[in-house]
Amino acid sequence: MNPIKHVAIIMDGNGRWGIKNKGTRNLGHRAGLNTLESIIKETLNQKIKYLTLYTFSTENWKRPKKEISFLFTLLENFLQKKINSLVKNKIRLNIIGNKKKFSAQLQKLLSDSEKKTNKNKKLQINLALNYGSKEEILNTLRIIIKKKHKITEKNITENLYTKNIPNPDLLIRTGNTHRLSNFLLWQIAYTEIFFEKKLWPDFKDKDYRKILNKFRLLKRNFGAI
Ligand code: IPE
Ligand code: IPE
Ligand code: MG
Repeated sequence: MNPIKHVAIIMDGNGRWGIKNKGTRNLGHRAGLNTLESIIKETLNQKIKYLTLYTFSTENWKRPKKEISFLFTLLENFLQKKINSLVKNKIRLNIIGNKKKFSAQLQKLLSDSEKKTNKNKKLQINLALNYGSKEEILNTLRIIIKKKHKITEKNITENLYTKNIPNPDLLIRTGNTHRLSNFLLWQIAYTEIFFEKKLWPDFKDKDYRKILNKFRLLKRNFGAI
């Protein structure tokens, strides 16, 4: 059976769920938080060490201002409300993505949340915020050039936002869409990908466990036989 160290998730389908069930996209984002909580709990139960969540992409700035500000308000409230529970459950929070675009207040909330949890070892949650794989790779190359180091696979891996994090074993995308949307392109070279029909707010523990169990039985070759 394949061990699972790292699960990455593209939490897609909130907007469609909201329109269908509540009349607005934003209420879909709110409903998505319940799924987020139950998936975090199940990840702890499963003793998985890393969970990377695509929360806001570098392309999501193209959305209407109202939706963007709703998303960031949800994020701020979530962090403020849940920080104690993260500490209690020994969860470490780590942000991947370019934080420079955020307000000083949000940057502080993010770095305080990271600091408060940085000793925790049970589960590391990597929140991908203003994350884009192409931006990450460009940023990485700039760092390597500035240090006057060689462009090697190892140096790239060690300067990404995901440095010190093993590559995802599996990637799940909910919302019945079959694309990567600029997520972890370098890191998922050998990741097993699962596309899930259900929209994120409809995705349950049971669906998650089904995918994890399917993954455990796969034969992974990494180019060998
Ligand atoms: C994903 O759900 C969540 C974010 C991008 C923040 P969407 O908002 O993309 O939902 P759909 O895909 O439009 O239904
Ligand atoms: C990917 O979903 C980003 C997040 C889930 C945060 P999108 O809904 O933004 O992806 P596209 O635009 O449909 O490819
Ligand atoms: Mg979407």
